[in-house]
Amino acid sequence: MSSALGIDVGGTGIKGARVDLATGELLSDRVKIATPEGAHPPDVLDVVQNIVSTLEHTGNEPIGVCFPAVVTHGRTRSASNVSQEWLDFPADDYLTEELGQTIRMVNDADAAGFAEATLGAAHGVDGLVILTTLGTGIGSAFLMDGVLVPNSELGLLEIDGELAEKRAANSAREREGLSFEEWATRLTRFYTHVETLFSPELFVVGGGVSSSHDKFFPLVQARTPLVPARFLNNSGIIGSALLATRPGD
Ligand code: BGC
Repeated sequence: MSSALGIDVGGTGIKGARVDLATGELLSDRVKIATPEGAHPPDVLDVVQNIVSTLEHTGNEPIGVCFPAVVTHGRTRSASNVSQEWLDFPADDYLTEELGQTIRMVNDADAAGFAEATLGAAHGVDGLVILTTLGTGIGSAFLMDGVLVPNSELGLLEIDGELAEKRAANSAREREGLSFEEWATRLTRFYTHVETLFSPELFVVGGGVSSSHDKFFPLVQARTPLVPARFLNNSGIIGSALLATRPGD
């Protein structure tokens, strides 16, 4: 059986597990550590190292890491919910050097989308599937006939004069104490805007709150069907592991 470690760096928590690459099943407990204040690169690295050793990493097992930022050519290019030091930062090289093996970093929603297209809710769906993660921010992944088109960043769309993720992320629901009905009105505005722009076949929804999908999906009024991610909040871990051995751009 081949396995890899997947590590999902989020705005509030950093999570990791050993993943069966054929099925996406977690082969270990999920280790979760709070994201260090400010999410500076050396502090994030410390937590990643801690997770890797807790998971009893064996030398030749691949490690994939996903991160809440645009990632192109191994560099992190944005920093909405993390330290500004990640702007144009050589993340692949930094982690590769510090962890002593080749690491590929990808955007967190892209990792989740890749997992869902390979083994989950978007598997076998033709046309455009858009995965969104509702968490600290809103992440997005475009999957065209199962092929990932990276770094779509729909959470940074400006809608009614505000960033979509500032109004409609799960963190906005928590911060403002919104009821699911109130939050669903904001989600409806977001998803209908996105479907006007891109006409997807399907929305797949991930992030921690996706396990409570029955509380808000019926309240979101969009033409496009919404389904929960098969791997719920573990899609990022699983997709990072699946992408760990693939060559980067
Ligand atoms: C970032 C995205 C990320 C999303 C979810 C946004 O703030 O810009 O890159 O995918 O949060 O973590």
